[in-house]
Amino acid sequence: MSKYKYSTLGILGNPLKQSMSPEVHNYWLSKNHIKYNYCKFEIDKIKDIGCAIRKLKIKGLNVTIPFKKEIIKYLDDVDSNALKLQAVNTIDNKNGALRGYNTDIKGFTIGLNSFKSLNKKKHAVVLGAGGASEAVIQSLLDYGIKEIFLMNRTKTKAEKLAEKYRQVDAKNWINKDYINEAGIIVNSTCLGMIGYPTLPLSLKHTTKNTKVYDIVYNPQETTFIKEAKINKLEYTTGLSMFFGQAQESFKIWFKIRPVIDNYITSKIKKKLKRK
Ligand code: ATR
Repeated sequence: MSKYKYSTLGILGNPLKQSMSPEVHNYWLSKNHIKYNYCKFEIDKIKDIGCAIRKLKIKGLNVTIPFKKEIIKYLDDVDSNALKLQAVNTIDNKNGALRGYNTDIKGFTIGLNSFKSLNKKKHAVVLGAGGASEAVIQSLLDYGIKEIFLMNRTKTKAEKLAEKYRQVDAKNWINKDYINEAGIIVNSTCLGMIGYPTLPLSLKHTTKNTKVYDIVYNPQETTFIKEAKINKLEYTTGLSMFFGQAQESFKIWFKIRPVIDNYITSKIKKKLKRK
């Protein structure tokens, strides 16, 4: 039995205007008859966050840009995924002991599993070497992909990340030779997101079995996804990763796997359209 009576969950980050997490978690809370409220905590500094979580008896938090790495030093413990990536996106408060998790890997894997046939023997291309890219790399390796070519506008960043993994090699930004023959191409940059330029990549010469995965979910259909559709390539949008990581966080807090039903999917899709 918990020593505390919790009633609050939330997301920590800045900016949070665009976050859809409260919609999703509050829906799941009410569906599962759990009397908690999930709120946005948009803060400038996280220095006193550990104390605030304990004092305010917050059960759990999601953590997003720009605090995923910085938060670690305020926690008592982190799980193996968070340790590997040195990034936390979920905190669980167990009677004052704060444990960090990373559910982005599982979230990305849920989208990967939705492909009908992904050839593990072929290499993957990951575009981007920013905050989200390492979860993508780890998930692809856990899935069984043996070779990953990492391409980033700033090549030194790709090289630095590639150094951590035997199976990952840094290549020049948009290197067509590797892209055209890839088993899967993943966009883990912010290109294509509302307010950013589009990803300058044609998929016209890509092999027919290449899978396309864009982790951007706003807009739902990025130009990269449109390009996949035009060229009849199987694709997954960032919405599956978004729902997947949220589902995993909920499971950590309540040991319940919430259902991604039509109601919440269409609600989020409608919200995304209005933005
Ligand atoms: P996130 O946490 O969302 O991954 P990030 O860490 O700022 O955000 O990473 C953004 C990624 O998008 C990086 O890979 C970045 O490339 P650089 O390392 O060269 O900055 C990539 N990116 C952003 N704008 C880009 C652009 N105009 N062209 C190509 N890549 C871009």
